[in-house]
Amino acid sequence: MITIHVLNGPNLNLLGRREPQIYGSATLSDVERLVREKAESLGASVVFRQSNHEGQLVDWIQEAGAQEAGIVINAGAYTHTSIALRDAISGSGAPTVEIHLSNVHAREGFRHRSLIAPVSVGVICGFGPLSYLLGLEAVHRVMVERARQAVPSKH
Ligand code: DQA
Repeated sequence: MITIHVLNGPNLNLLGRREPQIYGSATLSDVERLVREKAESLGASVVFRQSNHEGQLVDWIQEAGAQEAGIVINAGAYTHTSIALRDAISGSGAPTVEIHLSNVHAREGFRHRSLIAPVSVGVICGFGPLSYLLGLEAVHRVMVERARQAVPSKH
């Protein structure tokens, strides 16, 4: 079974209360519920986690890689600063989709740069909680396709 780790970075534990005009009113538990429903419809298993600590996120990325799981990551502000997360993603070999609730490109200039985008399969931003569901579907499709290509053809 395909397993996808959905990892959340700093301040996302405050979702629903934190700058609702930017991030909306859904809490992280609401997002988790939607993600679990979507994973069930895809027939995938999901691990959903949040940490405010960079090293903890590095450990979880390594864990997902070791388990041959996929990753959907909202790295929060670490997206724009963390070489450690970038190295963890590229070193893990886990197919990774970077996501954001807000459209980071419509915001301050420092949010336009992502250190993890170049080592991710793709980036989804600006759709609120739907970004998580689109990210889940995207990484799931990538993993199904990779598994299909890994099976030697009969012809
Ligand atoms: C965010 C965007 C980041 O720039 C910000 O630091 C966050 C949340 C988003 O989901 O829109 O913490 O990742």
